[in-house]
Amino acid sequence: MGRRVIITGVPGVGKTTVVTGALKILEEEGVSYRTLNFGTYMFDVAQKEGIVRDRDEMRKLDKEIQKRLQKRAAQAMAQEEGNVIIDTHASIKTPTGYLAGLPEWVLRELMPDTIVLVETNEDQILLRRLTDETRSRDLEGSYGIAEHQQFNRSIAAAYSMYTGCSIKYITNADFLLDKAVENMAAVLR
Ligand code: AP5
Repeated sequence: MGRRVIITGVPGVGKTTVVTGALKILEEEGVSYRTLNFGTYMFDVAQKEGIVRDRDEMRKLDKEIQKRLQKRAAQAMAQEEGNVIIDTHASIKTPTGYLAGLPEWVLRELMPDTIVLVETNEDQILLRRLTDETRSRDLEGSYGIAEHQQFNRSIAAAYSMYTGCSIKYITNADFLLDKAVENMAAVLR
C-alpha cells in the first residue's frame, strides 16, 4: 500500500510549482509518486458533458453539479495504487459561498495520510494571479484571499478529525521557493 498525500492551496499560491520541484529532488533519491490533478478529473467529465469550456468555469457551475463531478473524480482516483499525490483544493470559492473540496464522500474514497496546505502572504498571491495570463483567475482583493486561506485551515482541521490524517502547512513565499520545495520533499519522503 502506497502513501496518499493531498496537496491544497488557494489558486495562484503555487502548489503545482512546489510539488513539481519536490518530485524532482525525490526522483534522484529513488522515491516516486504519481500526481493526480483533481480538477483535471472533474474537467474531463464536465467537458465530455459539454457543460464547460475551461476549468475555471467549473467553480461557477450549480453546486449540485460540482458535487456530482467531485464524487466521480474521487471514485476514479481511489482506484490508483502506489504513492499518489492528489493536487486539489481544501475549499472552492463559489458564487454562493465556500464549497468543501474534500467532503465526507470524497474523503471516504481517498483516505489520505497527510493533507498539505501551501500558503503565503495574500498580497503575493494577488500579484501572482494578476501576472498569470494562462488562467482566468478570480479577481478579488487581499482581504478575500486572506479569508479563504483562513477558512482552509479551519476546514482542514475537520478533515483531520474525520480521517486521522496529519495536516502540514508549507509557506511558499516570494524568493523562497527552494525552501518550500525542500519542506514539501520532506513531507513526501
Ligand atoms: P486547479 O487546476 O487545481 O486550479 P488552481 O488552483 O488554479 O491550480 P493551479 O495549479 O493553477 O494553482 P497553483 O497555485 O498551484 O499554480 P502554479 O503552481 O501554476 O483546479 C481547477 C478547478 O478544479 C478549481 O477551480 C475547481 O473548480 C475544481 N476543483 C479542483 N479540486 C476540486 C475539489 N476537490 N472539489 C471541487 N472542485 C475542485 O503557480 C501560480 C503562479 O505562481 C505561477 O505563475 C508561478 O510561477 C508563481 N509562483 C509559484 N511559486 C512562486 C514563488 N515562490 N515565488 C514567486 N512566484 C511563484
